[in-house]
Amino acid sequence: MLVCNVDNIVFRGRGGGSVVLVDSVTRAGGSVIAHRRSSEEPAVGATGPSRSPADRALTRATSRQATPRLAKFHVPEILFGPGSLSEAAHAAVRLGARRPFLVTDPGLCAAGWPNQLCAHLAEAGLRPTVWEGVTPNPKDHEIAAGHVRYLQEGCDVIIALGGGSVIDAAKGVALLAGNGGTILDYEGVDRMGLPIPPMVMVPSTSGTGADVSQFCIVTDTARNTKITILGRALVPDVSIVDPYLLTTMPDWLNAATGLDALTHGIEAYVSRAHNPLTDHHALQAIALVGENLVLTMDHPAEEAPRTCMAQAALEAGLAFTNAILGATHAMSHQVGGLLDLPHGVINGVLLPHVIRFNAAAEPHRFVPIAQALGLPGDIVPDSDAGAVEAAEWTACEVRRLADELGVPKGLGEIGVTDADVPLLATMTLADACLSTNPRGADAADIETLFRAAL
Ligand SMILES: [Fe+2]
Repeated sequence: MLVCNVDNIVFRGRGGGSVVLVDSVTRAGGSVIAHRRSSEEPAVGATGPSRSPADRALTRATSRQATPRLAKFHVPEILFGPGSLSEAAHAAVRLGARRPFLVTDPGLCAAGWPNQLCAHLAEAGLRPTVWEGVTPNPKDHEIAAGHVRYLQEGCDVIIALGGGSVIDAAKGVALLAGNGGTILDYEGVDRMGLPIPPMVMVPSTSGTGADVSQFCIVTDTARNTKITILGRALVPDVSIVDPYLLTTMPDWLNAATGLDALTHGIEAYVSRAHNPLTDHHALQAIALVGENLVLTMDHPAEEAPRTCMAQAALEAGLAFTNAILGATHAMSHQVGGLLDLPHGVINGVLLPHVIRFNAAAEPHRFVPIAQALGLPGDIVPDSDAGAVEAAEWTACEVRRLADELGVPKGLGEIGVTDADVPLLATMTLADACLSTNPRGADAADIETLFRAAL
């Protein structure tokens, strides 16, 4: 039995009583039960002049809500903008680096970005150890090997330059450097007790949000699943978001990570742990993906859409690391662990089904999401029936976008079989992300969702 306290999602209502929306995740016999001490209060965000679809959606949503509450918001120092890669060396120096450990992967090395970063580090008087032993969906043994290399080289500050897999591997090495043991020891929430080395993250994709998040996702190669490690210590010290780095992504990775960012925004917005600060970033991310992801596929060299997607990924990351996620990610982690497939592609297949499942219990929360994605004027969501229609339009719009990006129609096309479903469902129930899904789900519900997505 494992009991994980999710104590960083605590809110205080106007009446002064502290409430914990999801105060514990109790795992027993492979099941997770999320306990709620109080009913969820409506969120409140800023109102006032607004122009973007996200702002308009947020204003409409919050104008009907009136109960403020306190919210905790974790965020690294962020440097954002074309050319900001050069700031990584200064950031490392400020964090006390003498021997930085640079985590990257062979694809990034071929693109030339690590060499460019090493030149900046050399200018700052730093001689990094470069470790590129990471594969997509980073494996437990890879992180162990990285930790050995980190110790052998006597490194201090950790820098990651890459996508979510590289960044998660870097976090795993940092976690082991500070706490010892094996990475699988830390599955769950806040299980690391000791400080970890400073971290500077430089994302090369527009989707994962790992550069700002308190998540570390690692493949458990013995169980063929992904484990979720969650803890405020994993929030990096500095995130450097340079849209130029996105221009060397292959199209499939751009599509997959963009869909991941969209999923982060939607799951964070409807999460049981959402709050006014996360709502703003979630809707902004959703709108930016809706407006720019396809543009980056059609016009990959154009700077403006790339910069917007970099911002979308960043804001989605800020939203989900504080609001946590939902059933799409809880299910996706299991499929990704079983089949070593791109995380964002799996999300793109699952998300419309999870939207319909959640909206069946509470459709109104999906109205601002629909509006951020450009809900057509002939759908008027000011009634229960209208909200249902808007939520269904959202599910269809996500699928339409996935179709435009070439995402498979179902999990069956990427190798999942009906025989896999019971085990996938059982393992989904043990994923920390399920605890903040807005609608409770048992094994039968999850199996039904997996079969609908086949
Ligand atoms: Fe994700």
